[in-house]
Amino acid sequence: MKILGIETSCDETSAAVVEDGTKLLSNMVSSSVELHKKYGGVVPEVAAREQVKVIIPVIQEALDEAKVRMEKIDAMAATVGPGLIGSLLVGVETAKTLAFIYKKPLVPENHLIGHVYACWLTDYRLLTTAVDRSQKAVSTQPKFPLIGLIVSGGHTDLIFMKDHGKYQWLGGTRDDAAGEAFDKVARLLGLGYPGGPEIEKAAKNGNPNLYIFPRPMINEKNFDFSFSGLKTAVVNLVKSNSQWQKAKSDIAASFQKAIVDVLVKKSLKAAQKYQAKEILVGGGVAANQLLRSQLSAHGSQLGIKVRFPSVELSIDNAAMIASAAYFNFKPQKPESVQAQPGLYF
Ligand code: KG4
Ligand code: ZN
Repeated sequence: MKILGIETSCDETSAAVVEDGTKLLSNMVSSSVELHKKYGGVVPEVAAREQVKVIIPVIQEALDEAKVRMEKIDAMAATVGPGLIGSLLVGVETAKTLAFIYKKPLVPENHLIGHVYACWLTDYRLLTTAVDRSQKAVSTQPKFPLIGLIVSGGHTDLIFMKDHGKYQWLGGTRDDAAGEAFDKVARLLGLGYPGGPEIEKAAKNGNPNLYIFPRPMINEKNFDFSFSGLKTAVVNLVKSNSQWQKAKSDIAASFQKAIVDVLVKKSLKAAQKYQAKEILVGGGVAANQLLRSQLSAHGSQLGIKVRFPSVELSIDNAAMIASAAYFNFKPQKPESVQAQPGLYF
């Protein structure tokens, strides 16, 4: 079954074609990030206006790259939330219109669940021969029960998944999301936007043990997070140290280590408590190399497999939405599908 996914929850406009939930045939992403850089964060109105301009060409490119015509698509999927209302409306209303005209089933998807499904995808664009493709088709898929760690600019959540469609929210951030903390500290240090990759770059030349920043809630029994105190600790250091500019890379490295320590410890604790076979990580912060190496290393010591999507599929994309829709196939009448900016678990 070929599903055309559409994702427009934040500043990306993405369309993708995925076959049987796992085979990525195309994934087009147009980002308006350049337009937001000077503001240090996404400006919702600017993002939505840009999405109106690019949504149709992006869908057309996704179909072209997958070499499939709209008529041959079996179903459609669209992110309905959470996200920015103006941005969501562009994707949702476009999907509804296409589903109505072409008489395709339309599956509304939760963006956060979508991030976990990025781990089910195999990139078929790189595989051209039939033999390669059939070998890849049997490559291992994630095994239940599993823990999903969603770490993005707007969210930090841990979920327990017993099976497709059977999940339980374990905890989330009480204030800033992990990516938001990266973005805010990057701005404070005079680094660019988005902050995650900038902090990661600066941290490469820094000493992660020079500053001992707090690891909020790391030892608490729950699965909640809090990153605003950590951010405040960096603010206080910068205010009290007139030479902080010289220590920028050490601050970045020490801050990055603090966030990663918390994410690793809590994810592993959840996996152990719920006897999960695997941890699946999704969201923009999943692109972070320190998080990747630390979580994988500590997971393997405990016999827990840790999966990360490629960097392309860690950030917002429509392929993960198409995959989630395949494994949770609950189509709705186009006219009843609505954007839900506040959707959660
Ligand atoms: O999932 P995403 O693309 O959009 C949201 O749904 O929010 O995540 C964007 C977030 C930003 O806060 C960005 O700073 C962060 O992901 N990010 C990273 C890295 N790349 C992106 N954080 C840490 N390290 C990275 N390499
Ligand atoms: Zn996201």
